[in-house]
Amino acid sequence: MTCSILVGGAWGDEGKGKCITYLCDNDKPQIIARAGVGPNAGHSVEFNGEKYGLRLTPSGFVHTDAKLMIGAGVLVNPDVLFSEFENLKKYNVKERMCVDPRCAIINEDHMDRDKSSEHLAKKIGSTGSGCGPANSDRVMRTIDLAKDVPELEEYITDVSLACNEAIDNGENVFIEGSQGFALSLYYGSYPYVTSKDTTASTFAADVGVGPTKVDEVIDVFKAYISRVGEGPFPTEMTQEEAESRGLEEYGVVTGRRRRIGYFDMELAKESCRINGATQIALTCVDRLFDCARVQNYDELSAETKAFIEDIQTETGVPVTIISTGPDLKDTIDLRKELL
Ligand code: GTP
Ligand code: IMP
Ligand code: MG
Repeated sequence: MTCSILVGGAWGDEGKGKCITYLCDNDKPQIIARAGVGPNAGHSVEFNGEKYGLRLTPSGFVHTDAKLMIGAGVLVNPDVLFSEFENLKKYNVKERMCVDPRCAIINEDHMDRDKSSEHLAKKIGSTGSGCGPANSDRVMRTIDLAKDVPELEEYITDVSLACNEAIDNGENVFIEGSQGFALSLYYGSYPYVTSKDTTASTFAADVGVGPTKVDEVIDVFKAYISRVGEGPFPTEMTQEEAESRGLEEYGVVTGRRRRIGYFDMELAKESCRINGATQIALTCVDRLFDCARVQNYDELSAETKAFIEDIQTETGVPVTIISTGPDLKDTIDLRKELL
């Protein structure tokens, strides 16, 4: 039985939503716990022909036997959470949700400060979701915690205790990171980063699981790179080139147009090293190569295979999941071959 952490390899939007949904639907973990910063995230999930945009609910919600948890390190905006309960009614998300009493709470003032700050909104290009000011108040030890919010009372659960008990009982626990390696407050392109570290060690701490309990770290990369907001982007291509290659993208949370660039091997190597990656999931391979909906490795072109093998050789980490389309079926799963 396995405790896995999934992390973003670059500047977020690597397709974590699709990978998490595939892995949880396939591996059926007992607990799916959200780590990461908070509702600045936007994960896209396509399941049974329907599309969902999630900011706090774990993307693994489609596995309806799992308990869904939000770890102590994650900022919670109760309004965002409750609106997701409405949108995901048929998956019984509300009934399965557990929120750690130690989660810090985002309020209107945090969002106002995020949106009205010249530094955050303009220079950094923040999402305006209030996460930066909320983490700042958390560091100042002035912010309210989930245990003090009556509307959250029925969801309050010691997430760390639940995860550790599950691990001790030999159950599968899946920890979902958000954002991406290059947005880390420590390791990213400071100051153009988010308000917290976004690597596997912090995601483990977010849900209260110690490093010795973690078995797998899955680092997700897109076959090309996207970045929203300001800051350096060494492999960026022009908007015209992105358009001519059919690679335009828009953000889930803010609707902003994403900057697009080529795969960055140096970034991938550093991301794998600092995350301690044991596996790589590679998404949107079909948008770079002609392989839409392919489900067998053997059916990929020599050029596509060379791209994948190059990533494995350079990072020293096996590419175990290859995503060739938004649907869960559009996945090449090489994990069985490694066992
Ligand atoms: P994270 O923020 O990392 O969770 O990524 P995301 O899920 O937010 O990704 P994004 O918002 O960029 O959405 C990607 C879009 O592409 C969604 O509509 C996904 O369903 C879809 N998608 C995911 N993987 C693939 C893939 O392998 N190929 C294609 N063509 N689309 C994909
Ligand atoms: P903040 O996290 O809202 O403060 O935004 C800081 C920077 O991180 C901005 O450049 C945002 O665009 C970026 N960012 C934060 N969360 C995400 C995410 O989930 N995907 C992509 N970019 C993000
Ligand atoms: Mg996203």
